[in-house]
Amino acid sequence: MATLGVNIDHVATVRQARGVGEPDPIAAAVLAELAGCHGITVHLREDRRHIQERDVTILRKVVQTKLNLEMAATTEMVALAQDLLPDQATLVPEKREELTTEGGLDVITHQESITKAVESLSQAGIKVSLFIDPVLDQIEAASKTGAPFIELHTGEYAGAKSEEEVERELARLKKAAAKAVTLGLRINAGHGLNYRNVTPVASIPRVEELNIGHSIVSRAVLVGMERAVREMLVLI
Ligand code: PXP
Repeated sequence: MATLGVNIDHVATVRQARGVGEPDPIAAAVLAELAGCHGITVHLREDRRHIQERDVTILRKVVQTKLNLEMAATTEMVALAQDLLPDQATLVPEKREELTTEGGLDVITHQESITKAVESLSQAGIKVSLFIDPVLDQIEAASKTGAPFIELHTGEYAGAKSEEEVERELARLKKAAAKAVTLGLRINAGHGLNYRNVTPVASIPRVEELNIGHSIVSRAVLVGMERAVREMLVLI
C-alpha cells in the first residue's frame, strides 16, 4: 500500500489571497494527520507565494508523521533545510531552465549542482527525493546523485485526455518505476492525482508515497461548504 502525503500549499494560497491569518495551513496539517495521512508536504517557494517560513517552522514542531519539504536546489534553500531538518526534502524545479520539457527536474543538465545539494542535505540526515519525469535517462541521472528517492511526475498521466493516452502514460510510469527499482532507487509519485485517477498509480509496484494537494484541498472546500454556510446562518 502506498502512503499519503497531503500537500497543504493551497490552504496557504487562500490565506495569502487575503493577507490575513486564515485558513491556517497548520490547522489543516493537524486535521489531515487526525484523518490518518502519513505525511505533510509543503513547498516553500523562493517567491514565498503561499507557504511562509513561519509555516515550516511551526510545522516542524507540530507534524507528528513526516514533514516533506519541497524546495529548489539552491544554496539559500539548502541552508534553510539544514536548519529546519524536515524528514524528507523533495528537490523540484522552480525556474524554466531547471525544467525538462515535461516538467520534472532536469537532472541530466544540472547533475553537478543537484548532486551537491543531495550531499549537503543527506549529511544533515534529511532523506532526499528528486521530482522527475518518467524518463529513463533522467532516472539514470538521478541514481548517480546519491538521492535515495525519486518522485515520479504524474502530471502527463493526470492530463491525458483519451483512454489510449491514459494507458500510454500509465505504461510509462510503470516502466520508469521498474527502471528505478533496478537502480536501487525508492519511489514516490505525485502531481495532478485526484479521486478518479489515483488508483492505477497507487497500484504500481514499489511506489511508496503519493503526494497529493490540489484535489484534496479542492474537495475539502466543497465538502465543508454546507456546514460552513449553516453555521453562519445560525449566527445571522
Ligand atoms: N509533488 C510535487 C513534487 C509537487 O510539486 C506537487 C505540487 O506542489 C505535488 C506533488 C502535488 O500536486 P497536486 O497539487 O497537483 O496534487
